[in-house]
Amino acid sequence: MTYGVIVGERGDPARWRSERRWLPRGPGTAYRRLQTVSHLLRRDREAVTRFLASSDYPLSRWQRVRLLRSFGQITNAIRGYHTLTEMLTVADLVLRLAGRPDLTLVEAGAGAGASTAKLSLVARAAGARLHVFDTFRGIPDNREQHHMLDGTPVRFVKGAFRGRLGAVKRRVREHGVIEVCTFHKGLLEDTLPRFASPVDVALIDVDLLESTRTCVRELYPRLRPGGALVSQDGHLRATHDLLSDDAFWRDEVGRDRPVIEGLGRDKLIVIPGPRGA
Ligand SMILES: C[S@@+](CC[C@H](N)C(=O)[O-])C[C@H]1O[C@@H](n2cnc3c(N)ncnc32)[C@H](O)[C@@H]1O
Repeated sequence: MTYGVIVGERGDPARWRSERRWLPRGPGTAYRRLQTVSHLLRRDREAVTRFLASSDYPLSRWQRVRLLRSFGQITNAIRGYHTLTEMLTVADLVLRLAGRPDLTLVEAGAGAGASTAKLSLVARAAGARLHVFDTFRGIPDNREQHHMLDGTPVRFVKGAFRGRLGAVKRRVREHGVIEVCTFHKGLLEDTLPRFASPVDVALIDVDLLESTRTCVRELYPRLRPGGALVSQDGHLRATHDLLSDDAFWRDEVGRDRPVIEGLGRDKLIVIPGPRGA
């Protein structure tokens, strides 16, 4: 069990505890700082280069470097469940729409607040408002049995990834921009239908199939032209099955299934909204 997530054989809590005892790896450790630099230079290098070079948004080179530095500091300070490449993909989608009136960014699934703090910085840079949806009590009660794309079984235990609302706000205040954020506490099934606003970009990182289903059903029809939903749950077979299902799109979302690149393959799935004017 790692933070309440049971993944195949690696779900042995004793093994997990002993590995961590010998080499502390969490937020605030030297290991974490080294790993952040290593990812920047290797794993995420291509995305970083693209972000620095893009001419699609009005950020100076220095502002981009500052954003990357802040992302790194947040990664070092707060436990998060995303890669820099994933976060830069979302930043790119939002920054392309910078300056649009009432630009609205949604985050479904905040965890401890690392992604929230980063998205709040992106929102400020683009002139957007960030709406954050979570139970703020971790994964809700569920009976879902999942498989990763490679077939490894995984379950998401109630309470996993918990970040209390007060703690998430404190972290965003310290590392991000709390002024651009609105927090919606509760089950997505209850909070999203009450959220009436049009949406430009939404990052969905909720693990459970029923939660992803709710997000797509509630958010996709509200996407403005040029917007997108981004699911970070492409490590799960069920996410790909849901998004490939014509009946889901037709009967629940009320739209034709859009063309989605990377279905059946990618961890990060970008679902394009209606085309821009
Ligand atoms: C993996 S964590 C998010 C991690 C975060 N995006 C990051 O990168 O650090 C998944 C989050 O989804 C939330 N979640 C899942 N299903 C939910 C639901 N039905 N209603 C509200 N929150 C939900 C959990 O509370 C949890 O905080």
